[in-house]
Amino acid sequence: MKAIVVANWKMNPATWRDAKKLFEAERKAAEGAKNSVVIIAPPAIYLRDLSSGYRGKKISFALQNAHAEAVGAHTGDISLAQGKDARASYVLIGHAERRELGETDDDVRKKVLAALALKMIPILCVGEKERTQSGAHFEVVRAQLRTTLAEVAPAALKNILVTYEPRWTIGKDTTMNPREMHEMSIFIRKCIVELSGDTGHSMKILYGGSVDEKNAVAMLQHGDVRGFLVGRASKNALEFAKLLQAIDTV
Ligand code: PGA
Repeated sequence: MKAIVVANWKMNPATWRDAKKLFEAERKAAEGAKNSVVIIAPPAIYLRDLSSGYRGKKISFALQNAHAEAVGAHTGDISLAQGKDARASYVLIGHAERRELGETDDDVRKKVLAALALKMIPILCVGEKERTQSGAHFEVVRAQLRTTLAEVAPAALKNILVTYEPRWTIGKDTTMNPREMHEMSIFIRKCIVELSGDTGHSMKILYGGSVDEKNAVAMLQHGDVRGFLVGRASKNALEFAKLLQAIDTV
């Protein structure tokens, strides 16, 4: 099964000219990759131009965030519907950097439902801020899943990519141990089974947080994940190509 690699460009690059160059290089890398499918989440301002200029099938597009309502008086926001109209078929929801700005589980829940209603695929991010020895992180993740998936029909769960991305692994030098991720993947499925029944067993789970060409292979082999949410290694075309090449060796 191919790995799902989500390139979260965040607020990069600074110019349209550089965005085009980065996209072109990542397009080539994606088209050469045998073992990955690639989803690019550019800043929304670049989305329509990138997607309308792309004719291939290997890359899909994602929004990094969006408002659940289709239109309205929300200065500075863009809606899921507008993103879909610009050819985004996925949307990141509940990223730790949005949660830090005040996004709540209730906001996340509304966005997940709105995305599913539009037939967009939510990339639902969950994860604790910090980790201690107490095991409290499991309860944090359980509570996030309970609230954000509460109203999702069991049959719709297959259209959600749950991404475990704890805040303490984002933008760091080291990443999480694949064995701990394996444990977390099992736990996430168990929580979803408790909430929604057996379909929870087949959830696709991604991992995010300092993923690069050095740690991706072990995570795919031992972490029980279907793919990755990638920040820094996706804003540099060379790093991104190396990551896809590493995944090709699995
Ligand atoms: P990172 O970011 O790969 O730079 O740690 C990941 C993310 O925040 O999605």
